[in-house]
Amino acid sequence: MTGFPQVRPRRLRQSRAFRQLVSEHDLHARHLILPVFVREAIEAPQPISSMPGVFQHTLESLRSVVAEAVEAGIGGVMIFGVPAVRDARGTESTAPDGILNRAIRVAVDAARGGLVVQSDLCLDEFTDHGHCGVLDAAGNVDNDATLEIYAEMALAQAAAGSQLLGLSGMMDGQVAAIRNALDRAGRTDVALLAYSAKYASSFYGPFREAVDSQLTGDRRTYQLDPANSREGVREAELDITEGADIVMVKPAGPYLDVLARVASASTVPVWAYQVSGEFAMIEAAAQRGWIDRTRAILESLVGIKRAGADAILTYWALEAAVLLREGVIA
Ligand code: PBG
Repeated sequence: MTGFPQVRPRRLRQSRAFRQLVSEHDLHARHLILPVFVREAIEAPQPISSMPGVFQHTLESLRSVVAEAVEAGIGGVMIFGVPAVRDARGTESTAPDGILNRAIRVAVDAARGGLVVQSDLCLDEFTDHGHCGVLDAAGNVDNDATLEIYAEMALAQAAAGSQLLGLSGMMDGQVAAIRNALDRAGRTDVALLAYSAKYASSFYGPFREAVDSQLTGDRRTYQLDPANSREGVREAELDITEGADIVMVKPAGPYLDVLARVASASTVPVWAYQVSGEFAMIEAAAQRGWIDRTRAILESLVGIKRAGADAILTYWALEAAVLLREGVIA
């Protein structure tokens, strides 16, 4: 019989059993990391209005979130600190009893080795001008002066027990500077996650509320131009050369092409950060009944996996872990 297709890809899609058998990419709870905000001087967890279901935590509620994360079987938590007092240098970032370093101690204690405790290493939450580095006399972000503070932050976070430092400041040479400082202090055990291809993105909007950011203006002199993909690969390669243990692309959804390029070029694990704005868009559309929330969450995550991420930072980490356990698929 002529005129009929001999090749029929639909044969493998005819039942759920067939589809599962031939699925190319899988989500696993162990490859999800939950970002957690811990705020100083609050009595109870505070909701973040642009991120429904996400809270600024107290040290006490952090303890329960970390226990829940271990229970859910996710791979890690990434801690962000929101200090009560800020200054031009971001002094609270290096203080051993600063909120972030205290939170790391609590998280390590609550995790009991059940997941990898990670911490954000950047100055933007701690400076009164909101930039990721200190400013020079002309008001520009001073790269090399910032590296010295980052090195001090790294030692403080390592002393607090962080096992993986999230280098999110986009200063040139930050991976090498921090690796050297840790190694000289004998902390060869502390691993570095380089936010290598971090773009100057509008999708960080809700995060600014989450950390009570003081920034006016933007970060375009240090974060990448959204128009550039080759430059993202270059940043990842540089970071690997400087000693990064893991590289990252951020945001995730709007930069899947960059993620795919970095994944094919990288000799170390590649992660992606599904940022606050990606979260907020799906939550907002779902609230209006415009989108199937559960399916959109899982589809957005599997898309990031498919593009080449080995693990994903996502505000849905706990919920997605439960959905996966129940066998829900996108
Ligand atoms: C900087 C940092 C930012 C995010 C994570 N680390 C904000 C920025 O660069 O402006 C954004 C994360 C998100 O939007 O979910 N410390």
